[in-house]
Amino acid sequence: MASPAIEDQAVRVRVAGKINLTLRSGPRRADGYHSLATVFQAVSIFDEIEAAPAKPGEFTVTVHGDQADLVPDGPDNLAVRAARLLAEQAGHADAGVNLVIRKSIPVTGGMAGGSADAAGALLACSVLWDLDITPDELRVLGAQLGADVPFCLAGGTALGTDRGDRLVPVLSRGSYHWVLAFSDRGLSTPAVFAKFDELGCGNTALEPPQDLLNALVSGDPVALGKALANDLSDAALALRPDLRRVIETGTDLGAIGSIISGSGP
Ligand code: C5P
Repeated sequence: MASPAIEDQAVRVRVAGKINLTLRSGPRRADGYHSLATVFQAVSIFDEIEAAPAKPGEFTVTVHGDQADLVPDGPDNLAVRAARLLAEQAGHADAGVNLVIRKSIPVTGGMAGGSADAAGALLACSVLWDLDITPDELRVLGAQLGADVPFCLAGGTALGTDRGDRLVPVLSRGSYHWVLAFSDRGLSTPAVFAKFDELGCGNTALEPPQDLLNALVSGDPVALGKALANDLSDAALALRPDLRRVIETGTDLGAIGSIISGSGP
């Protein structure tokens, strides 16, 4: 996973954003989360995370990119929290890091932008500090930071269950070209799930999405387009009815399938 650390040099990693090809959700659980059956696919939109040496106890972050002003640049930043958690768990008392994030993944766009930065910080800091840590241990730490972080560490195409953080790689033949329509305003994931609860949308039987998995194996884009599904759509559209027009425009222009990805928009 990691190349040897070079202490006087910054470590840079790129982490991909994701879309959800299907997202089935159960009702809210006692822990506030929802059990999911979702298929993630990493797409070629990347955030770059750089970890540079810093004085012990110093954890800073600088964010660059068009939406940088929407990202916290203090201790609440998910990448900073990831770095601190890693230092604490690894018992690395002298740890410190100056993080630089170059964002391309949309913020609050349902593409796991914050989770990608946390995944990148875990990976980059583990190399910078030359930690003896396995990918599985990083995954467990990632899951403490957010349900999408384990997928951001793994990439590729994967079926996610439980909170979306238990992953099984999925065979996906061919390559896919997605047209992504971004909104200039984000949607908060907790708000979308809260609306989902209010609408009583929880689907209790969470079956693996067999049609979609078959389509990915066959590499048939038409079958894949037909199998795209998102249980959070009604909730996202209830909060942002204008998104319906975007979806309809895709369909009118001949898209094989059009969906809101994750919690959108
Ligand atoms: O894990 P993460 O912090 O990214 O999740 C953000 C919010 O999304 C959670 O606080 C919860 O409201 C909602 N969520 C959920 N069920 C999931 C994943 C996320 O309810 N499986």
